Amino acid sequence: MSSAPSLAHQLLRRKPVEQLRAEAAEGVDGQPLRRTLGVWHLTMISVGATLGTGILVVLGTAVPLAGPAVWISFVLAGVAALLSALSYAEMAGAVPTSGSSYSYTYATMGEGIAWVCGWCLVLEYAVSVAAVAVGASEYVDETLRVFGLHLPAVLSAPPGDGGLVNLPAAALVLVAMLVLLPGAKESAWVNTLMVLVKIALLVFFVIVAFSAFRIGNFEPLAPMGAAGVSAAASRLFFSYIGFDAASTAGEEAKNPRRDLPRAIIGSIALITALYILVAVAAIGARSWTSFSADEASLVRIVVDVTGQPVVALVFSIGAVIAIASVVLTVLYGQTRILLTMARDGLVPKVFGRVSARTGTPIANTLIVGIVVTIVSALVPLGELADATSIGTLIAFALVNISVIVLRRTQPDLERSYRVPFFPVVPVLGVLFCLFLAVTLGAGTWIAFGIWMVAGAVLYVAYGRRHSTLA
Ligand code: ALA
Repeated sequence: MSSAPSLAHQLLRRKPVEQLRAEAAEGVDGQPLRRTLGVWHLTMISVGATLGTGILVVLGTAVPLAGPAVWISFVLAGVAALLSALSYAEMAGAVPTSGSSYSYTYATMGEGIAWVCGWCLVLEYAVSVAAVAVGASEYVDETLRVFGLHLPAVLSAPPGDGGLVNLPAAALVLVAMLVLLPGAKESAWVNTLMVLVKIALLVFFVIVAFSAFRIGNFEPLAPMGAAGVSAAASRLFFSYIGFDAASTAGEEAKNPRRDLPRAIIGSIALITALYILVAVAAIGARSWTSFSADEASLVRIVVDVTGQPVVALVFSIGAVIAIASVVLTVLYGQTRILLTMARDGLVPKVFGRVSARTGTPIANTLIVGIVVTIVSALVPLGELADATSIGTLIAFALVNISVIVLRRTQPDLERSYRVPFFPVVPVLGVLFCLFLAVTLGAGTWIAFGIWMVAGAVLYVAYGRRHSTLA
């Protein structure tokens, strides 16, 4: 370390956009990632990271809150996500690194906020992989049941939930880790196949459910009033998390400045349309009063409408595949964000080492994969999902602010995409994110506070001493 600069100076120093762009091109120690991904794979990465536990599991807990108006909750959460998605698109086009919002805040608000953002991204990515894998284990169990098999609770639930270890969740993360090792292109293909399966699954659901549609199921529309609709919107925000995953592939995209904005906006449009269709179809097919958090609602509807129990098997297998693709892509995103942070010296260099043979960060992938496997095996879903949402909302708010700052500090910077109606869109983006974050419970905020204190200690003990920024 050179002659020690003050902490305030370190926290405020920014990384020039030009330097970020050059480093993304050169890689760490002259070993860049391989540029193999086009707009199709990038879009599939974002859709892959987004469609999963939220629509398949969390929907069942949101209907009792909002009633038939749950589709309006999807619209509200979708608007919050879309506003931030437009800001992500502008920043990803201007600063196409693999660091996503961590790099955007480094360029605009300095090292301190960048570290806060990177630390929130660990909640959005690593912790959410664990949450999502835990959600999948319900469907694994449902699938096994069809064959008369049943995993004992001791092997399918974590200690807090009456078990000892969540084996299906841990196995899912381990398999995803192995798929990521050979190369981004290979894992992108596996992901694309899985995404097509899950889109087909939801389209199949919509067709089946619409065949039993009853308009009377939408009356009364909002039995719990506006409060219920907005509580459900906060809960359902989880189902939109992940559209930003394409922005962690900035250094593996063939044409990042053109394709990242397209992939981010294309994926959020597709996802919002699918969610609203699924919600309307589900309520049309089944009275809202019979939804509950304790059953896989979409599967029940398909079985009731078709009268074919075998459909439950097909649907459950599809659901496991759907959730597996979230695990794969979000785990991928976490490794790439850590790689960028390692290049900046804020986390140990081992996370930045890229294998010359595969063009992927092997040690990084192994470390992240094994740590997330352990968390998913031992921690219950509820705790993990809320922590994920708060970290994500803060990161999204920071990206909206980054757009505003960069427009002021570098108005002439070449941008491949510009947020429309500036500054209304990013300002509304910040307000929506903060509104949804405030509605999360006090317990989540306390857990978040503890997480941030731990992050601050790590920064002072390590990041501050090893930061490579002069
Ligand atoms: N949006 C992701 C899911 O719903 C986290 O699984």
